[in-house]
Amino acid sequence: MGSSTREQAGAARGAAVFRVLDREIDRVRRDTGAAPRVLDVGGGSGTWAVPLAVAGCAVTVVDTSPNALATLARRAGEAGVTDRITPVNGDVDTLAEVAPADGADLVLGHGLLEVVDGPGRVLAALAAAAAPGGAVSVLTVGRYGAVIGRVASGRLAEARALLTDPDGRTGPDDRLLRRFDAHRLQELATGTGRLRTEVLQGDGTLEAWLPGPGQEGEPAGRDERDELDALASSVPALAEVAPRLHLLARRY
Ligand SMILES: C[S@@+](CC[C@H](N)C(=O)[O-])C[C@H]1O[C@@H](n2cnc3c(N)ncnc32)[C@H](O)[C@@H]1O
Repeated sequence: MGSSTREQAGAARGAAVFRVLDREIDRVRRDTGAAPRVLDVGGGSGTWAVPLAVAGCAVTVVDTSPNALATLARRAGEAGVTDRITPVNGDVDTLAEVAPADGADLVLGHGLLEVVDGPGRVLAALAAAAAPGGAVSVLTVGRYGAVIGRVASGRLAEARALLTDPDGRTGPDDRLLRRFDAHRLQELATGTGRLRTEVLQGDGTLEAWLPGPGQEGEPAGRDERDELDALASSVPALAEVAPRLHLLARRY
């Protein structure tokens, strides 16, 4: 329990989200003295659920995919946290049937809003599952980060579509239903009538630009890279071009 969720998760993601989640679970422990109750909707194979459980949280994962939940069970076993994770095969559209209203200190919807029908309705369901004073964490795909990625790889028609399509899609074959800019994401949170945004930042803001091992440039250790990435992620102009946007909102 001494180590951060970031340390538990390894180098899979940018540092900015883990820092915010660590702060949040520390707050719950301080306020309640109990293990933070986390509800991870669309939690899949446990990218976030497993490190949060290792950090001492009691995590319920709701996901429509039995395959993802099977992988989650295996990973939880390997990490020794099977008893702290409750996998539920369920749909966010019927979340109230499997997760009590006002029941979680922290609700995660990571990688979810870009693949579901009705993102506003889904975010409202996540908000309803959070306890008053608790938090909802949303991680989703950034529209302008995708534009820059396409330009850098010479896919200019896709870049144009991402800029002009109302939902920020590359076309009908796009595997995502939408991409977000910061304004739209915040508007969605406000529109639930239950969430006040506290953090709106990028995630992995510099990952495409930081030189990796063996590439040219100043050699940087992981801590230094994380530090720089988290710093850049908190700058609104840079967050807007991050590959992922992260919002943490307080339930009222
Ligand atoms: C892109 S993955 C994200 C997994 C994980 N949250 C992460 O950030 O790595 C999206 C997950 O959402 C799940 N999912 C998609 N639609 C869903 C729905 N309507 N209700 C619950 N889960 C859903 C998928 O099965 C998948 O595991």
